[in-house]
Order: sequence, then C-alpha cells, then structure tokens
Amino acid sequence: MKRVLTVLLMAAVVSFAFAAGGKQGGGSGGVTKGMDRKIVMGYSQIGAESEWRTACTNSVKAAAEEYNIELIFSDAQQKQENQLQAIRAFIRQKVDVIAFTPVVSTGWEAILQECKDAKIPTICVDRTVDAPNTLYDVYIGSDIKAEGVKAAVWMVNYMKNTGNTRGKDDGRRAINVVELQGTVGSAAATDRQVGFKQELAKYPNYKITKSQTGNFTRAEGLQVMEAWMKAPDAGDIDVLFAHNDDMAIGAIDAIKTAGKKPATDIIVISVDAVKGAFEAMLRKELNATIECNPLLGPQIMETGVKLVLKQPVDKWIPSIESQYDWTTAEQAYPSRQY
Ligand code: AHR
Repeated sequence: MKRVLTVLLMAAVVSFAFAAGGKQGGGSGGVTKGMDRKIVMGYSQIGAESEWRTACTNSVKAAAEEYNIELIFSDAQQKQENQLQAIRAFIRQKVDVIAFTPVVSTGWEAILQECKDAKIPTICVDRTVDAPNTLYDVYIGSDIKAEGVKAAVWMVNYMKNTGNTRGKDDGRRAINVVELQGTVGSAAATDRQVGFKQELAKYPNYKITKSQTGNFTRAEGLQVMEAWMKAPDAGDIDVLFAHNDDMAIGAIDAIKTAGKKPATDIIVISVDAVKGAFEAMLRKELNATIECNPLLGPQIMETGVKLVLKQPVDKWIPSIESQYDWTTAEQAYPSRQY
C-alpha cells in the first residue's frame, strides 16, 4: 500500500512539473520561450488611430504572452515626445530590449544612440526611421514604398480596363486623382506617396489634383473628403487614393452624402486590408486595398529573444503581404484575422 501511494505521489509530482514546464507560453512566471530566463521588453506604440493599429497592438500583447516576455507597453498618443520619454524610462528600467513604432521618421538619432550606449538592442516596428541603420538593430515591417507602387499599378489597370462613370483611360483623357495622406512626416505616409507618384509619373494623363492629410483616421478622412465634394470641381474627381482603409471608409461616407457612388463614380483604393475594408469591398463601395500586415507580434518577440541571445538577425524582416479587390474579397474575407 505504502509503495502504491509513493508511486501515485511521484506521478502527481511529475505531471505537475510537466504541466508547469509546458506553461512556458503564458502567465507571469516561468521563462521566455527559447531562453533560460524571462526577458523584459519595452514597447512604445504610437496610439490607436486606426483599425490597423488596434490589430497591431493586440498582436504585440498576445505574442508577448505566448513567448512569456514581460512587456512594458506605452501608448504615445501620436506624440514623438511621449515616445522619447517612454524609451528613456525603458533605459532607466534596464529592460532587455526596446521595440518602438516611430510616429514620424526624423529625430531619432540621439535616443537610439542612448539605447546603444546602454547596450540595449532596438527593434524598429512597422515604420522606418531616417537615421543610419547602424543605430538600430532591425526593422520589422512592410516595404512601404512598394505599397504606393502597387496601389498605382492597380488603379491604372482598372482605369484602362473598366474605368469609372466618366469613362475608361484611353491614354488621352485627364484622370484626376485625389490623395488622402497619412500622418505628415510618418514613413507610412511619405513612402506610400513616393511609391504612388513614382509609378504615376509613367502616365502623363494622370494628375494628383488634391492632396491633404487625414491623419490615418476615419473622422479626418471624412472631413477632408466632405470639403472636396463641396468644391466646384468635385465632379472632376476620378480616383481617390487613401493611405489607409480608415480614411477611405470615412471618405466613402462623404462621397455618398454628396450623392455620388463610391467605387463607380469615384474609384477608391487604399492600403491596409483590414476587415472594414473587406466589408466595404463586399458592399461594392471600395475597389481595392493593398495589404499592410499589422500582425507583427510574433516576429517582434522572436527577434527580441534572438537579440538578447546575441544571435544574428537580418537588418530588415519583411512582413508577408498580398492585395485584394472586389474579385478576391469574398473568398478571402472569412479567413481574415484583422
Ligand atoms: O504605419 C502603418 C499605418 O499606420 C497603417 O497603414 C495605418 O492604418 C496606421 O495607422
């Protein structure tokens, strides 16, 4: 009897230890996945301006849990000075690794040097910085300029083959494009614009007639488009290119209020591929969206571990992306994760 009890007790201890070991992926105790201790990451997020940003934040938090990384999360409310303060606080707290999404691309040299001096590796997430790449360890995110190029390529093809209510692109008629820019000074706005314009320069009959920031938000996208739809030349607009889906969704409301049909009278193309954009495509109000993947959490955590272990990482870890329009939206929508 005594021997049986001992065996049962030992089995219970072993299974408890196994369960605890298997719980590496979550909870507050334990060690970081792939390491022999728990690592601490400071992450400076820029805010919650869009559906995309919310998906990005959720992905970062979920992945930190999964890797059992202690995440010190800071929301900068769209202000660079808040980001600088947060990063300085991370340095004082001696975190193992710092990740940040730069709200604008300039003004990072000094703080990156401070991180370097403190020997804390840095991960630049989603938006690039205008700083020598020796100052940070890795950029994880999209080829932002390529997103602008893809949007222009899609637009030109569509205008040539289908066109809007004013007709197709015959190579001669002037095609008037209005552009809703993202946050001024952010890499996501600057590079999307550069890529779009670079492609457009091949087609002299296309002109960007108006361009204004909508700060990546629905409310401002709506506001700016509302003003454009009230202008005397509103009837000349052929295409709207919005730097993100949220602004396009806001602008679509303004187009409808003005009595025009979005995606038929005015062709609408945007970037991100969030669920809201798929819903708009299914309602036939948005023509196309170029994917910019916000689910960067797992790549950030995996890279963080490698940097702490001093393992080699690529200078740029690109996100995996696609593009969608009316013809592919219905099939893709059910499996969309954001
Ligand atoms: O930096 C990525 C951009 O920021 C997304 O396209 C936009 O929706 C977001 O807010």
